[in-house]
Amino acid sequence: MSRPKSPWWSRAVFYQIYPRSFADSDGDGVGDLDGITARMDYLDALGVQALWLNPVMVSPMADHGYDVSDPRDIDPLFGDLAALDRLVTAAHDRGIRVTMDLVPNHVSSAHPWFVEALADPSRRDRFIFRAGVDGGPPNNWVSIFGGPAWTQVPDGQWYLHLFDSAQPDLNWDHPEVFADIEATLRFWLDRGVDGFRIDVAHGMAKPAGLPDMDLTDNQLLRNRADDPRFDNDAVHDIHRFIRRVLDDYPEAVTVGEIWVHGNEQFAKYLRPDELHLGFNFQLVQADFDAVAVRTAIDNSLAAAALAGAAPTWTLSNHDVVREVSRYGDGSQGLARARAMALVKLALPGSVFVYNGAELGLPNVDLPDEVLQDPVWERSGRSERGRDGCRVPVPWSGSAPPYGFSSTADTWLPMPADWAPLTVEAQSGDPNSTLALYRRAIHLRSTRPEFSGDGVEWLGPQTFRRPGGLTCVFNTGDAPIPLPAGEVLLTCGPLTGGSLPPDTAAWVV
Ligand code: NOJ
Ligand code: MG
Repeated sequence: MSRPKSPWWSRAVFYQIYPRSFADSDGDGVGDLDGITARMDYLDALGVQALWLNPVMVSPMADHGYDVSDPRDIDPLFGDLAALDRLVTAAHDRGIRVTMDLVPNHVSSAHPWFVEALADPSRRDRFIFRAGVDGGPPNNWVSIFGGPAWTQVPDGQWYLHLFDSAQPDLNWDHPEVFADIEATLRFWLDRGVDGFRIDVAHGMAKPAGLPDMDLTDNQLLRNRADDPRFDNDAVHDIHRFIRRVLDDYPEAVTVGEIWVHGNEQFAKYLRPDELHLGFNFQLVQADFDAVAVRTAIDNSLAAAALAGAAPTWTLSNHDVVREVSRYGDGSQGLARARAMALVKLALPGSVFVYNGAELGLPNVDLPDEVLQDPVWERSGRSERGRDGCRVPVPWSGSAPPYGFSSTADTWLPMPADWAPLTVEAQSGDPNSTLALYRRAIHLRSTRPEFSGDGVEWLGPQTFRRPGGLTCVFNTGDAPIPLPAGEVLLTCGPLTGGSLPPDTAAWVV
């Protein structure tokens, strides 16, 4: 096993692209691969070292690509294999790595295996089919998206789907499931892809006997510590299998989506023969509060250190409310999101930036009739779902579609008041959020002060990297003193020698 001391992914800035929403090249109102390729200079100027593309494999799009019906081809909505090759070449020409999304927990109900399983009960063993109990489903499990986790087929059997009914869970006790994932991994890695984000990396292995769950708390993607659906020990055998394939590609990386309880449980996924990186969602879950932020940072560092892995940092993704809105929306929400961007980019390890975060985009309140997330219908229209953080990126101009597409009929409508947020509007403004991100990523990637692992806390809102960078952030309501030294970057004006509320600064 090749373990270079400091692999590229242990300190990279990854940019997460939600392909539907980044840039549309063919005027159908949905972003696509050639759209991304056409914007590669933008990504280069932003200074990111790697991309993570949400799923672009063939899919009926019940969950916008997380329902894969052919894992080894590109959905025509996004392009084709040649378009992916163009994207990878354009990225590699600029020194940018490309990672894709791998969905091993489930497939689409349109996947040939599931079509075959429906037609022939003797071919159901690659999924989790069971007889019902007392006329109802086999156990009381609920879907993460709301409603039951079981759907009955016409002959009376039930199949398990932890997500939408169009996403049947695979049976990871079946050797063909292993063989197929290996084929998928090698297919994309052989094409030059640099690794994978692994969906629901704490899922896949189900407990023997499928025992009932406690139904008191089933918040989206936040399972309880005793939730039988997730984090079962056998999942680690699956990660070890994936890692053995990855080790044939020494430069490639895996980063797991891991929602588990406790640092020890988290660290298990990052043992030397499992995943390279794991998303730690502690910063996403922390309020804009000094104690909460420090606790999140310390815990994330401790969890990664337990496994000798690099920590990862993320403030948002396609599943959560955008940080500007989480921190209160308006100018204060934006100021806080900018401050937290400096906190995140000051930390050791790998940083993930969700497309649009660099523009300070807020979540969007969408009308009922445009909502597409399966969560909306499955929750009986009680949860609005995740569409509000997936609205297309505004590039230029003063009205929708803001250069995202040639049609104003974009897959989700774009707000009328986003003209000041476009890439074009922000590019010329040195105080814009885009300018802040560009500068911060550039400094992080080039200055020696960002070296070394771990952080030392110099105060409740001040930490120092071994290389000499000090980051101070102010979550309170009164200015706080700045540490001595040269101010490298701030996300807002300083008042005299002190740091105002909702602001952060880098000092060397
Ligand atoms: C996690 C993904 O991030 C989310 O978008 C998706 O709906 C579920 N996994 C199911 O694949
Ligand atoms: Mg398109």
